[in-house]
Amino acid sequence: MDVYLDHGASTPVDRRVLDAMRPYFTEYYANASSLHSGGAEAANALAESRKTLADSINAKAEEIVFTSGGSESDNLAVKGVAYGLRDSGRHIITTGIEHPAVLETCRGLEREGFNVTYLPVDEEGFTDPNVLSESIKDDTILVSIIHGNNEIGTIQDLRALGEVCGDQDVVFHSDAVQSHTKTEVDVVKQGLGLASFSAHKIHGPKGVGALYVREDLKGSLRRQIDGGGHEYHLRAGTENVPGVVGYGKAVSLARKSHVKHMVRLRNKLADSLLELPDTMLNGPRGDRRLCNNVNVSFKHIEGESILLGLDAKGISVSTGSACSSKSLTPSHVLAAIGRRPEDSHGSIRFTLGRDNTWEEIDYVIVSVGEVVERLRWMSPFVG
Ligand SMILES: Cc1ncc(COP(=O)(O)O)c(C=O)c1O
Repeated sequence: MDVYLDHGASTPVDRRVLDAMRPYFTEYYANASSLHSGGAEAANALAESRKTLADSINAKAEEIVFTSGGSESDNLAVKGVAYGLRDSGRHIITTGIEHPAVLETCRGLEREGFNVTYLPVDEEGFTDPNVLSESIKDDTILVSIIHGNNEIGTIQDLRALGEVCGDQDVVFHSDAVQSHTKTEVDVVKQGLGLASFSAHKIHGPKGVGALYVREDLKGSLRRQIDGGGHEYHLRAGTENVPGVVGYGKAVSLARKSHVKHMVRLRNKLADSLLELPDTMLNGPRGDRRLCNNVNVSFKHIEGESILLGLDAKGISVSTGSACSSKSLTPSHVLAAIGRRPEDSHGSIRFTLGRDNTWEEIDYVIVSVGEVVERLRWMSPFVG
């Protein structure tokens, strides 16, 4: 049996998404900026997707800037504010558990003379709004805090964090790439000025994403790709019309029932895996965790060996975040929640999708038990 449990890395494109995209490659292929009727057709399709995405996060259509994905959206948010508001201050606040698209961007800005505060998180990965409040200074221009963590599934209380930013009049950005359609993203309620999204995590195509830019911030953001006046002068380049159409379709197909289904499968998988000896759950339990994320440390054995053992049984998982899973340094997220390097090395991330079944989860539970038992039997670390 083949079981794909790496939806946090990417998801299959839904057939209906592909069907919606297809005509925009071969029939409605005009440039959306062209003034002829073909161009208008493409522009209308962009407008429709913009509205669909905006509605899903309680934003206005004019506040959506399409990009090439979550990484570009994060870069545009963080560098855009840093360069756009550098005359007002050079201090940025983020956390130690961000995706590299934010973390590395902040490190780059530090090399250019910006000051960055990396807030600590508790043992479940939560940022304390009081600690955030105390960290804001007169020259703070941006707070960037991930919504749903891609490794351990922690869902931050954006509303409480957004309130702090609002009270102190600082721009608030959140990377909502993993959380969008899985838990509520409401840019108004959550006090967001900027938020990043990506299509391929929600059964849309790769290479498409979006940045929500609150209307009043449009003038403050320095665009990162110079050229024509596309996307409200915030991102030059001919729009990826088929990709954006697919993205809109993917958003429209998301259902609360999918979330409920994934929560049930997640709980069954987590509860069963934690019955194995010497296992630890990384991240919180319950509704403060992404509906599709289970991250478990298996003591005394290597995550890579578990991954390969499961791969041989047709099961696809990840050893950490998709983007860092090829590196040997322990995950910065697991380190931030206090996991020892040896426990981080034995961690596996299972990320569910809406099409996974109970039978698949039963098969995964049995298979993990077999692989872990065999590896521990061979491990020099088990007495
Ligand atoms: C939280 C988070 N942010 C950003 C990204 C990057 O998104 P993209 O692959 O669309 O560049 C990812 C992808 O793994 C992610 O999980």
